Amino acid sequence: EQIKKGSYDHFMQKEIHEQPHSLTTTMRGRLKNSGVILGGLKEHLKTIRRSRRVIFIGCGTSYNAALAARPLVEELTGIPVTMEVASDLLDRQGPIYREDTAVFVSQSGETADTLLALEYAAANGALCVGVTNTVGSTLSRRTHCGIHINAGCEIGVASTKAYTSQIVVMAMMALAIGSDQLSSQARRESIITGLSSLPSHASEVLKLDSEMKELASSLVDSESLLVFGRGFNYATALEGALKVKEVALMHSEGMLAGEMKHGPLALVDENLPIIVIATRDTCFSKQKSVIQQLLSRKGRLIVMCSEGDISAVGPSGSCRTIQVPEVADCLQPVINIIPLQLLAYHLTVLRGFDVDQPRNLAKSVTTQ
Ligand code: G6P
Repeated sequence: EQIKKGSYDHFMQKEIHEQPHSLTTTMRGRLKNSGVILGGLKEHLKTIRRSRRVIFIGCGTSYNAALAARPLVEELTGIPVTMEVASDLLDRQGPIYREDTAVFVSQSGETADTLLALEYAAANGALCVGVTNTVGSTLSRRTHCGIHINAGCEIGVASTKAYTSQIVVMAMMALAIGSDQLSSQARRESIITGLSSLPSHASEVLKLDSEMKELASSLVDSESLLVFGRGFNYATALEGALKVKEVALMHSEGMLAGEMKHGPLALVDENLPIIVIATRDTCFSKQKSVIQQLLSRKGRLIVMCSEGDISAVGPSGSCRTIQVPEVADCLQPVINIIPLQLLAYHLTVLRGFDVDQPRNLAKSVTTQ
């Protein structure tokens, strides 16, 4: 086992640091200047384009990855995208039609709820697409078509490198489905350029490791941590909080910043740490005003912003920052989650918990 971990202390740590490589293998052979090549989808692209709706279905981190990709799929394809937690879809027996494309996202390809939702969607006549890391898994065998994320084996129970590779695969899927839309050709080309530079930006953001360790030591005794995001980075807020919850065993909630006034604001005081994601995109000015409102209530803020972008945080010194490299807005979630993964990792080590086998959790939940 130690050999497999190499110079790292834990698999989760190794897998976080592997991301420049796993992102490279996810994209290998699939990016061309003018488009993407996804062999597993090729024959079904026409059917997908004719769908009335795309439904993303998954659990845990895989659900969050789909949520991160949702805005781009909507933007590039014009098809409405709805989100389903697999167990909730089954509980409600939600309506699914022949005109739907159901995309099942699962690292292991063996999660029971996701597989049951697949059986249900297939029985209702939807086209079923799989996004998984595991070749030969039940998910890859039972879907009509799909894409392997090729992130390499993930051992840590908390998913890290699979999350970023899943987002990249779904971004490529959006590019492939939308490739018949002439009006967005320039946008697609800029995203493809952004994808090819993602591994080097991932290496750059990993340099925040010691800063995240230091941030973790300042938060180690906190009872709770909130993470506010919106737009492309709503998913980052949910996934960052999920990491902290599942491995560091600290209460943490990811929240939609647009909902702040409808409840969460009541929690704000000088003690509760709040991470606000305010990297550059079309929601930036709204996030700036969220920061101002939190500061005026003396909130204990940590602002994630684009490198050198102090205008995000208002008066200098008013709060701590996590500065990340700026990439294409729709790909920013791939970069922004990495410091939060590092934070969760260091919090876990400092709090003395088991990083790779968190209490009560399993890598793959194969029972309902
Ligand atoms: C478990 C794991 C999570 C994972 C989720 C979904 O809860 O602990 O890390 O995100 O299952 O797993 P899947 O293999 O379907 O992505």
